[in-house]
Amino acid sequence: MTAKTVKLTTEGGEIPLPLLEGSVGPDVVDIRKFYADTGKFTYDPGFTSTASCQSAITYIDGDDGILLHRGYPIDQLAEKSNFMEVAYLLLHGDLPKQKELDEFSYTISRHTMLHEQLATFYRGFRRDAHPMAIMCGVVGALSAFYHDSTDITDPQQRLIASHRLIAKMPTIAAMAFKYSIGQPFLYPQNNLSYTGNFLRMTFGVPAETYDVNPIIEKAMDRIFVLHADHEQNASTSTVRLAGSSGANPFACIAAGIACLWGPAHGGANEAALNMLREIGDVKRIPEYIARAKDKNDPFRLMGFGHRVYKNYDPRAKVMQQTAEEVLKELKLTDPVLDVARELEHIALNDAYFIDKKLYPNVDFYSGVILNAIGFPTEMFTALFALARTVGWVAQWNEMISDPEQKIGRPRQLYVGATQRDYVPVKER
Ligand code: SDX
Repeated sequence: MTAKTVKLTTEGGEIPLPLLEGSVGPDVVDIRKFYADTGKFTYDPGFTSTASCQSAITYIDGDDGILLHRGYPIDQLAEKSNFMEVAYLLLHGDLPKQKELDEFSYTISRHTMLHEQLATFYRGFRRDAHPMAIMCGVVGALSAFYHDSTDITDPQQRLIASHRLIAKMPTIAAMAFKYSIGQPFLYPQNNLSYTGNFLRMTFGVPAETYDVNPIIEKAMDRIFVLHADHEQNASTSTVRLAGSSGANPFACIAAGIACLWGPAHGGANEAALNMLREIGDVKRIPEYIARAKDKNDPFRLMGFGHRVYKNYDPRAKVMQQTAEEVLKELKLTDPVLDVARELEHIALNDAYFIDKKLYPNVDFYSGVILNAIGFPTEMFTALFALARTVGWVAQWNEMISDPEQKIGRPRQLYVGATQRDYVPVKER
């Protein structure tokens, strides 16, 4: 069967460009030889139309609001699976058999402890340091302690580093929270689930036995599942780009954490709850809708819109249902949830949002649940980073294992000064 191509017509004649087909989703035009054949670059700042890699991990259909992890729909995984199982799925490509899941969970639980000296890193931060600043610093510092898992050419070392990162993120995040409130760190307790262990390290105190609330444990675990991976988003692309230079996995994940922190990306969950609190009352919603539509006002509805989803983010649907469930089961009410529901209703019936296909995304409702569980807003993005680490690690492993992988090195459209001679300061 002849390879499919598209033809590019230039002043020098027609150039055939190979068309590559995936298992589902848009075909891609292979432009790897484009500069060699045409002497021209393609131009796509923000990568709105660019596939940066091949991947078999996560598929998103933005128009139909579909999200698949290794082919499994996110709503099914959120309802029927759990974070350890989804972590295995993302890393290894298939749902584990019970024995595989037990071994994986056991391995992860045995890597949850941090090298004791890493605790001293926290003492170098102010107590009011943003948890994401601590996460960037401490995760990057892991490479100074785990030299036996930094050789990226060794699959065994890559696997150990992957396990260590997935296992230690809850410990690091819980310690960041404890440090911010001046409470002592709690060591991991391996008889608990991954998520139960995290909740105890976060909310437990040495003086008391901490009983994991199953409602909260299930909600937290589902939130981790919903945040686990999401194709080639900004922070995942950052991890891949850092990894393409051969940087060690701990440094790559620290780079991903830094990128996730931005309010346009993972920082939106913190910004969304702060926005909902600032609105405070459904009567003030029209004022904020007007601001969001005003070109001269930099304000945006945080937790709304998405580069890929031009339909409802399937994770947002599950998140809203979970928010309703958690508040009901904990017998809590939160006026912010009423504001969120009404804001969504008004926005989704407003021509501006309809025309621009702006829907709630994963960050719009997550803060309501995290707040109900007891997290301060500053911790929200750290929780996103905790969950997304398994996606980053899976994508990093996929990239490193790709024999065609090269260092990422984009070019540019140069619009600066053309060559000119130096002028001594006396003559300027
Ligand atoms: C995440 O990529 C991923 O997969 C990310 C993520 C993941 O799991 O990894 O899904 C997680 O980051 C979710 C997104 C969280 N960010 C926010 O909620 C912040 C608010 N939303 C945005 O700033 C914005 O929607 C982005 C950044 C998410 C997407 O921006 P794009 O795709 O670059 O779109 P754009 O900025 O060009 O906006 C298109 C138009 C613009 O109007 P025009 O210039 O065309 O007139 O829509 C408007 C924007 O002004 N717009 C909004 C808006 N988002 C876009 N207007 C008001 N409120 C908003 N939230």
